[in-house]
Amino acid sequence: MRIKKTLVVALCIAFAANFSHASAQVKKKAIVKKTVAAAPAKVIPPPPFATAQEIEDGKALIAKLDCLACHKIDTKLVGPAYTAVAEKYPQDQNSVDMLSQKVINGGSGVWGPVPMAPHPAITLADVNKIVKYILTLNSKSLPVNSK
Ligand code: HEC
Repeated sequence: MRIKKTLVVALCIAFAANFSHASAQVKKKAIVKKTVAAAPAKVIPPPPFATAQEIEDGKALIAKLDCLACHKIDTKLVGPAYTAVAEKYPQDQNSVDMLSQKVINGGSGVWGPVPMAPHPAITLADVNKIVKYILTLNSKSLPVNSK
């Protein structure tokens, strides 16, 4: 009798232990499933086009220079709206290089006959940041790596 009782108790303990182990495993599986399911929603960032810091610097620089005398963010003034510039060129290094040269050397004929004055006093590094900032003003695509 006593042996039987002990056996039953032992079996119960074994069952309970097994059960809790199994439920822990189920929980674990559920967590794994959750992480796997969340993965596809994660946005894979494009190759770094600009850092948030560069964009912030560009925005600060543009405010200190004469750019806004001829350009507005979203309306044409003497020069094209920056949103129009951003929509015309892809967000890549080629655009940054080409437009930076344009700002430094001046240019005309892309947006109309009025030329843009050259800006030889600004460093290439600063112009790069300014152009990166301008290219994030594209309303069709979200700013890359910007806040
Ligand atoms: C005197 C007026 C004037 C000032 C100041 C000026 N711009 Fe411009 N900008 C223009 C005009 C006009 C154009 C159009 C030129 C063209 O059609 O090629 C232009 C074009 C541009 C473009 C587009 C170039 C292209 O090829 O599509 C960028 C980018 C630009 N400006 C940035 C700047 C920045 C940055 C500054 C300040 C450092 C600045 N501009 C200052 C008049 C100005």
